Amino acid sequence: MCGIVGYLGNKKAYPILLDGLLKLEYRGYDSAGISTIENNHISILKDKGRVNNLASLPDINKLSGTIGIAHTRWATHGKPSRENSHPHMDNSNTFSVVHNGIIENYQELKNFLMSNGYHFISDTDTEVIPNLIHYYYEIDKSNNNRFLHAVSSAIKNLKGSYAIEVICKLHPDTMIVARKDSPLVIGKGNHENFVCSDIPAILSYTKSFYLLNDGDIAELFVDNINFYNDSLEPISKELKNIDWDTSAAEKDGYDDYMLKEIHEQPKAIRETMGSRLKANEPCNFDDLSLTEEYLKSINKIYIVACGTAMHAGLATKPIFEKLCNIPVFVDIASEFRYRNPIIDKNTLCIFISQSGETADTIAALKLSKAMKAKTLAITNVIASSITREADYTIYTHAGPEIAVASTKAYTSQVTLLSILAIYFAETLKVDKEEIIFSLKNDILQLPQKIESILKNVNTIKEFAHQICTEHDIFFLGRGTDYSVAMEGSLKLKEISYIHSEAYAGGELKHGPIALIENGITVIGIITDANLVEKSISNIQEVITRGAKTFIVTNQDLGNHTFNEVVRIPDINPLISPVLSIIPLQLLSYYISKAKELDVDKPRNLAKSVTVE
Ligand code: F6R
Repeated sequence: MCGIVGYLGNKKAYPILLDGLLKLEYRGYDSAGISTIENNHISILKDKGRVNNLASLPDINKLSGTIGIAHTRWATHGKPSRENSHPHMDNSNTFSVVHNGIIENYQELKNFLMSNGYHFISDTDTEVIPNLIHYYYEIDKSNNNRFLHAVSSAIKNLKGSYAIEVICKLHPDTMIVARKDSPLVIGKGNHENFVCSDIPAILSYTKSFYLLNDGDIAELFVDNINFYNDSLEPISKELKNIDWDTSAAEKDGYDDYMLKEIHEQPKAIRETMGSRLKANEPCNFDDLSLTEEYLKSINKIYIVACGTAMHAGLATKPIFEKLCNIPVFVDIASEFRYRNPIIDKNTLCIFISQSGETADTIAALKLSKAMKAKTLAITNVIASSITREADYTIYTHAGPEIAVASTKAYTSQVTLLSILAIYFAETLKVDKEEIIFSLKNDILQLPQKIESILKNVNTIKEFAHQICTEHDIFFLGRGTDYSVAMEGSLKLKEISYIHSEAYAGGELKHGPIALIENGITVIGIITDANLVEKSISNIQEVITRGAKTFIVTNQDLGNHTFNEVVRIPDINPLISPVLSIIPLQLLSYYISKAKELDVDKPRNLAKSVTVE
């Protein structure tokens, strides 16, 4: 969940490292630090607080080194403090390390090191790494590449996940990096090399990347990189070009990344549809090779993910079931992985992850594979960890999502899964041509329809100002509107810190209505003509008990006394979540702004949850 950056070249390292950290702050922002080597000495500058706090420290300009490592932290072991910030050094101040991940056996390693005379300054798991490297460096004096061998020996002892960058004052022209279950990529420049946990950090310096696999180690010099596997055998790596445009990782005139990403949704969805969806042709997923015979053999589909990505699964369960007649189970990855799910070779398991790095989702995927299910990953990040584990991968192509609260990733995921459901139905040759044709047209019109919603935000803004001081808000919906209620409620909690709950309309009388009292806000989503009367009855019930209501709808609701109604364009309810979520994203955004909160970096959260 932390962000790491590294640089070696001929320029001063610290401005490049700070720039990278600022772009990675969405991965964690409770402390930050930098180490550089100058005159065979390692300088460290670190503190709790944000990257801008680090940048304002008086000594920052003294970091003149051209090789350096940097870190922005999301605390796991040890509270945010200067001592617990990265980089960490070994006791002899020879090695400096930044680490993303969790060392599960750190206590055991700490005990071992302490029995060998080492002492510890921080409460972190990471501090064992530089000391372990020092330990192996000292006992392996005869080796002619001691630095590399010491790092390799040290990481062989680590249980858990890590992406590390290591520098050593005795090898001032070398950086060693390694990864296992945490992202790490190397960017190749002209007489300079970069390292980062996430491509946007260095996208303005290079578009050429080497992707490391689990167990890989790389030894970097200014003009050369050596790659090794976990047995330290040399391996070769292909240089990949990532064609994201640099502005995709910048704010581009918007106040916040979240607002920019909300507005990017029409474009993101066009990219997601790409060449896969055309009105008069079968959907194209040539890269999947899931045959009619295979799809006929599966008796259930599991969609497994976390948070917003899981909500995208809930939103698309109905379209799969309606078109393909295959039961679909949607599960939370952290529950699925510990529950002994009943799956086998006749189960297709779909894993959704914007980042492609979520620890629970990847663990659930590995479990499914071990149980012989076929695994399909849906992710936004090219070559992310999940893509290396899954049997098949399809990309949402939504462009980098930087704001912690997910917006365009969700709508792209729902769009892609809907197209996938149509593709399965076509492959299975189901007799549903009419609905498939109409759904395709509806999906193709999503971008224009989102644009029209984004042009009329005044009602949403005004309502946001009216309710921004509230403490409890309820969301209600039925069918796919219920899944949107859950996603709307999550968005609100994340960035406005207002407590909220989402309920299926029919559940209201089974308990939650007891919470409705005078002045409470209830947000209703109503997009299904077959359920409109039932949903209006639920809303009436809360109005009778004094609730203020905000309704997102494309239905004719007749004469009712709702406080605000936001109309969205008409669309088949099977894919309406892509439209009905937009006003709710905006509502959360404007409430957060009205409360003067940090929209892009809400408290306690980080963008990629790479640890359990
Ligand atoms: C909410 C949000 C999170 C993520 C969840 C899964 O706005 O962003 O709930 O959806 O952490 O992340 P990915 O999709 O990267 O696996």
